[in-house]
Amino acid sequence: MAKRIRKAVIPTAGLGTRFLPVTRSVPKALLPVLQKPLIHYAIEEAAAAGIEEVIVVVNPGSESIAGYFDPQPELERMLKLRGRAAELEQQIAITKIARVHAVPQHEARGLGDAVLMAQDYVKDEAFAVLLPDDVIWAQRPAIGQLIDVWDRHGGSVVAAKEVPDEAVEKLGIIAGKLVSGPVWNVTGLVEKPKLADAPSHMAIIGRYILSPAVFDYLKEGRRGAGGEIQLTDAIASRLNIEPVHACVFEGAHVDAGTPQGMLAAAIFQARKQPGYFETARAMVEAAETGTAVRTGA
Ligand code: G1P
Repeated sequence: MAKRIRKAVIPTAGLGTRFLPVTRSVPKALLPVLQKPLIHYAIEEAAAAGIEEVIVVVNPGSESIAGYFDPQPELERMLKLRGRAAELEQQIAITKIARVHAVPQHEARGLGDAVLMAQDYVKDEAFAVLLPDDVIWAQRPAIGQLIDVWDRHGGSVVAAKEVPDEAVEKLGIIAGKLVSGPVWNVTGLVEKPKLADAPSHMAIIGRYILSPAVFDYLKEGRRGAGGEIQLTDAIASRLNIEPVHACVFEGAHVDAGTPQGMLAAAIFQARKQPGYFETARAMVEAAETGTAVRTGA
């Protein structure tokens, strides 16, 4: 077993249909929550947890996603020339967050297949997966909380959160029991079950630490829920062979994979940026009364 988690896989290769028309030409992972795109939040979280290398799985032609982390010499020269030192430093920091590679997923065969595309980079060590639609604000990065569980137990670890009835059929759901603190011992995982068949209301949220053995299952190409190759099924294939745990992470989570979720994420992020939340609040009031307010002073 590798001693620490050094690599993360970030799948981004969906069609982004819920965000049409913008996703006709902008990949969903580059859509912003205020000034930063979703992929930036995910990579920042991974880096804050000690991850050094990130493999972004992209649609062919969407390699610009990884290019976001490349140096921008023209921009840097201009900021330097104008004496905007703090901004220059921020821009250079983005290029140093992690080593970022893009690998294409040629066919949209599901999340499990997307993760399989990263195998050549991951090789035989345990690795992290972060789904950038799931934005999590936490003191200790959510993926770091999973790494803490993995340090104690090994095997695989998924992030989990209790969800209401209407969310159960849209997510991966676990069966198991609480071991201690926020940690569950997982005895079953099922992708998008019918509410009546769901073993619990504990859903998988898009953070994982995975044993490289999941690749063996993924290579078989077996189709699961929705006719897709499911990551949930690959993790389930490790039950009774290796430990599988769930970590009920601490932090605020928003599923930004829908326009409403993206709006919710922007409002949450606004609280972290001086002046922004006041604007959001004023706009809600103004929209209710149909009056205009002046923003962006
Ligand atoms: C994926 C996983 C699912 C998980 C969810 C979290 O589903 O397959 O198990 O609960 O991410 O966001 P998707 O959102 O891609 O349908």
